[in-house]
Amino acid sequence: MTTAPDTTEPARRDAPGAARRDAPGAARRRGPLTVGDQVQLTDPKGRMHTITLEAGRQFHTHRGILEHDTLIGGPEGVVVTVGTTEYLALRPLLSDYVLSMPRGAQVVYPKDAGQVVQMADIYPGAHVVEAGVGSGALSMSLLRAVGEHGRLSSYERRSEFASIAQANVERFFGGPHPAWRVTVGDLATALVDDPHDREVDRVVLDMLAPWEVLDAVAAALRPGGVLCCYVATTTQLSSTVEALRASGRFTEPQSWESMVRGWHVEGLAVRPEHRMVAHTGFLTTARLMAPGVAPPVRRRRPSKGMTETVESLTSKGPHRPDLP
Ligand SMILES: C[S@@+](CC[C@H](N)C(=O)[O-])C[C@H]1O[C@@H](n2cnc3c(N)ncnc32)[C@H](O)[C@@H]1O
Repeated sequence: MTTAPDTTEPARRDAPGAARRDAPGAARRRGPLTVGDQVQLTDPKGRMHTITLEAGRQFHTHRGILEHDTLIGGPEGVVVTVGTTEYLALRPLLSDYVLSMPRGAQVVYPKDAGQVVQMADIYPGAHVVEAGVGSGALSMSLLRAVGEHGRLSSYERRSEFASIAQANVERFFGGPHPAWRVTVGDLATALVDDPHDREVDRVVLDMLAPWEVLDAVAAALRPGGVLCCYVATTTQLSSTVEALRASGRFTEPQSWESMVRGWHVEGLAVRPEHRMVAHTGFLTTARLMAPGVAPPVRRRRPSKGMTETVESLTSKGPHRPDLP
């Protein structure tokens, strides 16, 4: 059986190769390089410098001078020569940008930001709450994922970090992002006080003590909504997961970490890179149950250590002759 070709859609599609320039920051990410664009210059040893193009301005290195005008109006992906050194000129990707932008707090690395977007199921149009903002690295990935029709409501208790993050985000998107709102305050109280952040779809926490804000999160999330927590240490991970279980309002938490190892590939010399960004943090996701509904009882019996506090372990544990 043959089906008639669909003649309704093509008229509404963009012409092949045409750019959708309406998404925030999209116009700055393609086309000829223009004033205000960021350009990453990479030398033969892989060292990078990022410049913001200005008419008549120069970039100085100990090897010589590069006129910004040489790049303005031309394509990216070109090689410019400064003295005798060749530099590859490209717009930085988001993953390049977050690692080179000014920092207040430590950023979420691109490998983890990708995991958050996928595993917390951040989708276009979603209403997402985030804390803390830190340097704004994760905010940028979340903003890209929710798009201009979504909402990202970010909470940060340190105003100086919020300012750094806002500057980083605006520089990346070329202006304020229409989906983003930043509140300076402690999530535990500020989220409860905010009438706009109700029935939210996703909550993403990158902060010291996520277990302290679970009441506020449960009040803001809609049933079925996803909570995603990013913590650096095993003790934080344990506290987060046990607090989620103890609350009785979330599904069984899932926890993991990701490791990304680069490979050196040259002919038949194929081996893992010697260096890698190994441990960065642990991710945990859980989903909110409907009001008054308890999560299903876990089949696996909790191990003894899980229910004992550190105190009880030290008082009942094996005798340590080195301790009083
Ligand atoms: C590691 S940084 C976040 C980094 C950020 N995700 C990024 O990628 O740039 C943690 C931030 O959480 C903030 N924070 C900690 N507890 C908080 C709370 N209860 N409410 C709001 N912000 C909090 C801290 O001030 C800090 O800026």
